[in-house]
Amino acid sequence: MPSKLTSTDVFELGTTPSLGVVPTKMYASLIRASRYGEPKDAFEVEVVDTPPISSHQVLVMVMAAGINFNNAWAASGKPVDVIAARQKRGESEDFHIGGSDASGVVWAVGDAVTHVSVGDHVVLCCSTWDRYSPDVKAGCDPMFSSSFRIWGYETNYGSFAQFTKVEDFQCFPKPPHLTWEEASSYMLVGATAYRQLMCWPPHTVEPGDPVLIWGGAGGLGTIAIQLVREFGGRPIAVVSDAERAEFCMSLGATGVIDRTEFDHWGRLPDWGDETSFKPWASGVRAFGKKFWEVLGERRNPKIVFEHVGESTIPTSVYVCDTAGMIVICGGTSGYNADVDLRYLWMRQKRLQGSHFATIEQCSKLNQLVIDGRVKPGMAPVGTIEDIGAYHQQMAENTHPPGNMAVIVNAPSAGLTDFSA
Ligand SMILES: NC(=O)c1ccc[n+]([C@@H]2O[C@H](COP(=O)([O-])OP(=O)(O)OC[C@H]3O[C@@H](n4cnc5c(N)ncnc54)[C@H](OP(=O)(O)O)[C@@H]3O)[C@@H](O)[C@H]2O)c1
Repeated sequence: MPSKLTSTDVFELGTTPSLGVVPTKMYASLIRASRYGEPKDAFEVEVVDTPPISSHQVLVMVMAAGINFNNAWAASGKPVDVIAARQKRGESEDFHIGGSDASGVVWAVGDAVTHVSVGDHVVLCCSTWDRYSPDVKAGCDPMFSSSFRIWGYETNYGSFAQFTKVEDFQCFPKPPHLTWEEASSYMLVGATAYRQLMCWPPHTVEPGDPVLIWGGAGGLGTIAIQLVREFGGRPIAVVSDAERAEFCMSLGATGVIDRTEFDHWGRLPDWGDETSFKPWASGVRAFGKKFWEVLGERRNPKIVFEHVGESTIPTSVYVCDTAGMIVICGGTSGYNADVDLRYLWMRQKRLQGSHFATIEQCSKLNQLVIDGRVKPGMAPVGTIEDIGAYHQQMAENTHPPGNMAVIVNAPSAGLTDFSA
């Protein structure tokens, strides 16, 4: 603790003041623009002011925080300088507290908050918007509002701190059977996957549907495999090693494909350049045959669950079934989507963008977790000091399979309840 601060200003991680007592300062693992670059160097634990809340906001003591790819982007300052973007909107802070997943205890509420109370155990979702923005007031779906933001990526005061501030609608009941770290790990990837797989009709998972899931052992893939299973589909997961393959099978994948057996990845060669196009075409055909082999039947995926982007999208567009859908929420490998339009229009396929989830979709996903029908697939759990290293692993794709989380203010990992 810095020397001038007393225990009423800030308390040590893993200890707690009396319920509802808000210290003036808090520990946070934060990013500064001067540290943009490798995630392992960008995050540092510092003491900053505890943020005030407004009338519809909730201050949550963060017990555990989930790790997601978005703050690997934030740490690098690319493709968006998240601090500069906020400052352009008039916010003064010169640091970024990331973190878009959390479990914790409601510690203070604004005077207009009605559906949560101090002491409630909650998980948080990362959809946020300005309820007073003209488009929302005019009836626009908040997902499409100009004020829509991802909390803890596009906003400050995310979950990598002792306290986070959120809008009241971001709070959901914590599944009582989960530890704090389990509860902090699933909402962002889970609700994103739920929207991708279940919310773009008529392309929703139905019994018997084959679904191709890129990155099956990653954060999104871990939940996507379970959702496809839950709704009766047949998830085929793509991975890059045997440990990840085994993990996907343990989650209920129908089968796995090791992408390292193929080498046609990357940008689509020019269709007019036969010398380059032919090897690509034979690579993608071999991948398609592998899909049939693993599925046990000559059928293509009705839904291709995409987030890898540049490196895989040409393959996704090719292997997707006639009248099927490629649904994409990210571009880990790059943002250029090369689409051979012949496959898209002749086979009448749909390429659909998808971004996080509505409050209703978060609630449905949360209920599936409460009911034990979807489970967080936990990777080893760290502490607030590990946040930079965990994002580094993620950026390098060397992280362990499953959903990653750190404990923040929980006294230790493995606790299902909170006692002051
Ligand atoms: N828009 C949204 O709302 C939203 C929400 C969540 C995530 N995302 C984005 O989605 C992406 C994935 O998120 P995540 O949490 O699942 O990350 P993750 O845990 O790192 O998993 C991604 C998986 O993708 C695979 N992968 C990485 N590079 C690849 C490549 N070049 N070719 C094929 N596969 C590759 C890896 O699996 P293998 O190496 O085993 O194949 C990895 O496990 C990120 O870019 C993230 O920002 C967007």
